[in-house]
Amino acid sequence: MQGFQYSNGLLYAESVSLVDLEKRYGTPSYVYSRAAIESQWQSYDHAFGDRPHLICYAVKANGNLGILNILARMGSGFDIVSIGELHRVIKAGGEPSKIVFSGVGKRPDEIKAALVCGVKCLNIESRSELLLINTIAGEIGKKAPVSIRVNPDVDPITHPYISTGLKDNKFGIAYEDAQAIFIEANGLANIEIVGVDCHIGSQITKLEPYHDALNRILLLTQKLIAAEINIRHIDIGGGLGIRYEDEQPPLPSEFVTSICNMVKDETIEILIEPGRSIVGNAGLLLCRILNIKKLPNKNFAIVDAAMNDLIRPVLYDAWQDILSVREESEAQPDQYDIVGPICESGDILGLNRTLSINEGDLLAILGVGAYCFSMSSNYNARPRAVELLVDGQDSYEVRRRESIEDLYQGEEILP
Ligand code: LLP
Repeated sequence: MQGFQYSNGLLYAESVSLVDLEKRYGTPSYVYSRAAIESQWQSYDHAFGDRPHLICYAVKANGNLGILNILARMGSGFDIVSIGELHRVIKAGGEPSKIVFSGVGKRPDEIKAALVCGVKCLNIESRSELLLINTIAGEIGKKAPVSIRVNPDVDPITHPYISTGLKDNKFGIAYEDAQAIFIEANGLANIEIVGVDCHIGSQITKLEPYHDALNRILLLTQKLIAAEINIRHIDIGGGLGIRYEDEQPPLPSEFVTSICNMVKDETIEILIEPGRSIVGNAGLLLCRILNIKKLPNKNFAIVDAAMNDLIRPVLYDAWQDILSVREESEAQPDQYDIVGPICESGDILGLNRTLSINEGDLLAILGVGAYCFSMSSNYNARPRAVELLVDGQDSYEVRRRESIEDLYQGEEILP
């Protein structure tokens, strides 16, 4: 729970009490800790030591400008998957030359924008995409820096929706076909090969799947170098999984050290695209209990956050820890399902949690820094929550709470 701790009976984000934050900004609100984000990023960065490397934070995890900006200030690179994410990074002060553009379906306008702005490379996922990039680069008189995303066909041992490196997944170029595509790419007039890329999945809590994938990538790299293809970097994809409940992921330093030991050629730059492990545990969702409902076989605590704010529990059966903002309570402990006000029984934030709570209490849902606000919606016409970034004793509203007018901005009625 780095960045968040109890002090004098109340839960704090760094040096700011959540009770005070609620008074200023209301609920539901996302609260992030700057110190926690920075220390996670640094734990990857320091572990590389002198080895050439680039940490490309995966913007999809949380693309708030305030967060992107503190990462850009530390010198981070970025992994993007859309023109929207490209603009977010530029707006937040990120350097185009440190951006890698991933994604299995890039539109021509997105490819063009990335080339014009001068990204570090485009990670190619199919032969047709390679040919399209070659054509677009030719039209605008540029040579496109590309890396080819190889599908290493390894099992990342994670939820099937976030497993990406098995041969039947839609991602990357089949391992068996990769060498031929590299050779073809190398002969294209407007393509410059700069690296090899892979990504096997997310919320991976063991090192073995990464090692298996990297072994295959290294074998391929040897063959490519023998074929005189210039490989300047190896991109090993996303970062580690995090602890939500009782998972015990390795430390970033163990992960990075093991990767560096495997890549013997110290002139090759190593890229990594962590998202979840940078911001996941640096965020909580503050919400208020609207009412408590006791049925013969079940108790519900209905809160003012809902599945539109936090879709992970219902989408992936994900477990997010839930704490009471007041450490002590006179209420008797009991078991509750923590649910939102949305008209679906799947509107679940946490099942079977033992808590000592009363109506009106504040709850903090932990581990929501990654893939929560970025996956939020306006379902049931619910304005999206405010996002707050805490830095020591200061708190900043890095995205204001949406207003009712925001909900229908851009909509029209017929004349
Ligand atoms: N690079 C690529 C190409 C990716 O597709 C992803 C995540 C990452 C990097 C970052 O991976 P990470 O370090 O965060 O594991 N919404 C899901 C997670 C989807 C991840 C998709 N790709 C969830 O809430 O669990």
